[in-house]
Amino acid sequence: MSTLKIAIQKKGRLSEKSLALLKSCGINIPNGTASLTAKAKNFPLEILYLRDDDIPQYVEQQVADIGILGLNEVLEKQKDVRQIEALGFSNCRLSLAIPKAQNYDGLSYFNNKRIATSYPEILGSFLKEQNILASIEEIGGSVEIAPSIGLADGICDIVSSGSTLLTNGLKEVQVILKSEAVLIASNQLSESKQQLLDRLLFRMRAVKNAEQNKYILLNAPNTAIAAISDILPGMKSPTVMPLAQEGWSSVHSVVNENDFWQVIDKLKTAGAQGILVVPIQKMIA
Ligand code: PRP
Ligand code: ZN
Repeated sequence: MSTLKIAIQKKGRLSEKSLALLKSCGINIPNGTASLTAKAKNFPLEILYLRDDDIPQYVEQQVADIGILGLNEVLEKQKDVRQIEALGFSNCRLSLAIPKAQNYDGLSYFNNKRIATSYPEILGSFLKEQNILASIEEIGGSVEIAPSIGLADGICDIVSSGSTLLTNGLKEVQVILKSEAVLIASNQLSESKQQLLDRLLFRMRAVKNAEQNKYILLNAPNTAIAAISDILPGMKSPTVMPLAQEGWSSVHSVVNENDFWQVIDKLKTAGAQGILVVPIQKMIA
């Protein structure tokens, strides 16, 4: 029987959440990322802990079958791999930033300037598209210190909370790309590995759906049930059960996180009381 090999980041912004995703898919992984690989106990999956920058290449070369990494690295490395699914965590952006004290009056600021980055491909095509003539100083890490040591006038780097820019006296002036964790796969998966990937994907989608939705319970007078059902479509339609108190019912449904507060306001206006909202662990449509 075959084993699917998944590459995840060994240490950094993505590593904890990648492991957490596998765990919430019910995959039991022995503790610690001290060794380079680990075998899951209850799913034919081997985990390879690698630098995220190297994951596209390893997946292209089939050292790993699939990988979890930032979209930014996938687009930068341009390897022959398939993008399977956006995973909805580790959201960040690739941005241009300059020293805080500088006046910024638009992209033309960067004409004849030097920009330090670990993303020369993405930055290069962006500058070309925008007709900006700047020189790109490619460096592997600690890009944020480049302006203060005189290596560059600005930087192009990943911004997440913004604290790296803040502590280095820089300000974000232009977003180039929005990024999040994605699942990639080799273009040469055997049929049995593709089947394992499909099983894993099924679980990942159930987890993602669950995270984006909440289970909601409320009480309402029977006269308000029709209006409340219109506000709460649920997976099919809401469950309505009579309460011991005459003329009242309990209504159960699922709401999307994005519409959440808006829905709650409407429910209250429609006559809902005692609203409870609880997390969902897995959701299979
Ligand atoms: C990025 C970037 C900064 C940090 C920004 O590194 O290079 O160091 O994240 O995050 P903040 O806005 O929350 O301070 P990344 O995690 O991509 O690490 P890597 O380049 O070393 O893989
Ligand atoms: Zn990296």
